[in-house]
Amino acid sequence: VHSKLILGIESSCDETSASVVREGREVLSNVVASQLVHVNYGGVVPELASREHLRAIVPVVREALQQAGVSYADLDAIAVTEGPGLAGALLVGITYAKAAAFAADRPLIAVNHLEGHIHAVLMEANEQFAAVSPLLALVVSGGHTHLYLAERLEGTWRYRNVGRTVDDAAGEAFDKVAKLLGLPYPGGPWMDALAKLGTADRSLFPFTQIKQKVTGKSAPKLAGEDDDAQRFDFSFSGLKTAVRRYTEVHHMGSRIAEREQSLRERGLLTQKPSNAEAFAAVRAEFDQPTLDLIASFQNAVVKNLVRHTFAAAEEFGAKAIVVSGGVSANSELRTTMTNTAQVSKLPIAFPQIALSTDNAAMIAAAAWPKLVAGHFAEDTLEPTPQLRL
Ligand code: KG4
Repeated sequence: VHSKLILGIESSCDETSASVVREGREVLSNVVASQLVHVNYGGVVPELASREHLRAIVPVVREALQQAGVSYADLDAIAVTEGPGLAGALLVGITYAKAAAFAADRPLIAVNHLEGHIHAVLMEANEQFAAVSPLLALVVSGGHTHLYLAERLEGTWRYRNVGRTVDDAAGEAFDKVAKLLGLPYPGGPWMDALAKLGTADRSLFPFTQIKQKVTGKSAPKLAGEDDDAQRFDFSFSGLKTAVRRYTEVHHMGSRIAEREQSLRERGLLTQKPSNAEAFAAVRAEFDQPTLDLIASFQNAVVKNLVRHTFAAAEEFGAKAIVVSGGVSANSELRTTMTNTAQVSKLPIAFPQIALSTDNAAMIAAAAWPKLVAGHFAEDTLEPTPQLRL
């Protein structure tokens, strides 16, 4: 029997990606073009993102097909991210996918970006978790911090949102605090690397749970959301403010401004910590109290994520845990999650690092059960920036 190939396309934020995946598991290619223009702005500029996608989409898809050694005629379906994401960015991927599906006479499959992140794990862990349901999925990235109870339902999946952030996403908190301390963008990987050189003061930021516990405040309920079930919402903006206040109280301001200026002049604000030379140069600008502050912040975020995830897993009787999204690359999060899972005797899985950030392989993987079930998109498919899962 002919095995089925899906071309996945992802353009929801600042990555243009195309990938060919065989039957939701075997990645034949996964091409990701990361947009570099945004580093100069310290965040993603939507208009620039759309233009970059438009420039990249054809070469990226061509490269993905070439690397996989296939042509359009070999494909069984084309899958694309429908949302959530930036409207103009999504529009590029969707328009391309619709045209390609039409020209190649193949079905079009719409995929929720968040479901994609979950499948970034399942595409590798599916065998390990073959009979395991429900799963508790934490999707944690620059734009999202969500907890889902994922149940297998006749070959496909049903998701129930049991927690989300009431303000900033965890990755956003990492990036904002990094910026506050004069670090390059995106700051998450820098914070992760520098936190290893500091010692966390666990009593410094104890209040990340407080907002919800004390005031009982949860995210405003959305239509269709479960009333009765206990929710496990997150809050990270108070933590960010506490870090700012800490830098003020300890008069770190002028030092931070000097540091940012110095890194900018030496072109280090556009570097990644994986560049050893850049890392050494940036690291040399940080004194021990600041490294300790970074470690304390990261510890507070990780503790918050881990506590809510395992509390929700217990509440809903989850049989395993999956963690995905850009922040799932964080080393302390991986270690703490893994250790806690061991104690709780719950299997846990993360995506390989390359599949933790935005990519099209996860979109093609999430589309596979939909292809089997015959769940195809309408010809009128359009972006849904606030799409829920
Ligand atoms: O999933 P992703 O590529 O994009 C979207 O958010 O859409 O995630 C990027 C986010 C950024 O906020 C980045 O700072 C964060 O993931 N991130 C990390 C790490 N690697 C990436 N945060 C903490 N530690 C890391 N190692």
